[in-house]
Amino acid sequence: MFPNHRPRRLRHHPALRELVRETKLACEDLIYPLFVQEDLAERQEIATMPGQYRHSLDSLRAEATRAAEAGIQALILFGIPTQKDPQGSQAYAEHGVVQQALRALKAEGLPLLLIADVCMCEYTSHGHCGHIEDDDVANDASLEMLVKTAVSQAAAGADMLAPSDMMDGRVGAIRKGLDSAGYDKLPIMSYAAKYSSAFYGPFRDAAGSAPQFGDRRSYQMDPGNLREALKEVDADVAEGADIVMVKPALAYLDVIRAVKERTQLPVAAYSVSGEYALLEFGARNGLIDRRRGILELLLGIKRAGADLILTYHAPEVAGWLKGS
Ligand code: PBG
Repeated sequence: MFPNHRPRRLRHHPALRELVRETKLACEDLIYPLFVQEDLAERQEIATMPGQYRHSLDSLRAEATRAAEAGIQALILFGIPTQKDPQGSQAYAEHGVVQQALRALKAEGLPLLLIADVCMCEYTSHGHCGHIEDDDVANDASLEMLVKTAVSQAAAGADMLAPSDMMDGRVGAIRKGLDSAGYDKLPIMSYAAKYSSAFYGPFRDAAGSAPQFGDRRSYQMDPGNLREALKEVDADVAEGADIVMVKPALAYLDVIRAVKERTQLPVAAYSVSGEYALLEFGARNGLIDRRRGILELLLGIKRAGADLILTYHAPEVAGWLKGS
């Protein structure tokens, strides 16, 4: 031990610090979430997520191009329809907002992987992630809506489907639906361990998707549970998921690590809207160094075991990584 061992020897020279750095972020790790709203003339900044927008189809194309130029390779799209109804029919309408966005982005020919979020809450008038019966989300009836949504997103050009609803059996149902419609090559990234979290607040504000009654605790996971996350992961793997996700990221780093040790599938983590807001408002108030704070949190998520990270900071971080 000391004085033979002096760990500080490796910390003096910047190049040596880099040589021995164990975890590094890369542009290729990042997935950029974007909101697209139907019938919007101009993009609107989201008040609770400064720097993020509800995009029109035109501004979405521009933002996707900018992200690709910054080095981002993958987007995940969330749609905000003009009309919401109890069945969330715009989620699976041929000309639904996400379907239009997928076609428009495909036509642009950008070198981007287009991921479609598969969920009902942005499309239902009640704001829940499925079909309502007796004031509860009916699991099996909701599966049909989700399968229709996934298949219609596939038909519109999605490169990967990401179900975020937390119904039981949805990965298997979507896999079967995609296969029988001829989309057996399209992968599924499941939100396998998605917790009922306070950190989705700004997203719900952006998408107008807050539940109109009750909450999501009968389908999203209880924040106290880790073993249950592994049960959810095992189920999704057995049902044919290709990538499993943990969400949110920051308060669930132990879950990310445990999932990484459990499965051979790639593990994704979603640094959600509330995490973005914490950083942005913290930095605006002069409490944290914005750039260092963002990079440190993403690095922590990667060190915990995430192979892929969904983050609203993706293009900006990609720019920093290229510049460094
Ligand atoms: C849809 C969905 C949500 C998020 C991603 N997909 C909201 C929710 O479950 O209420 C949240 C993402 C974020 O907060 O950034 N179910």
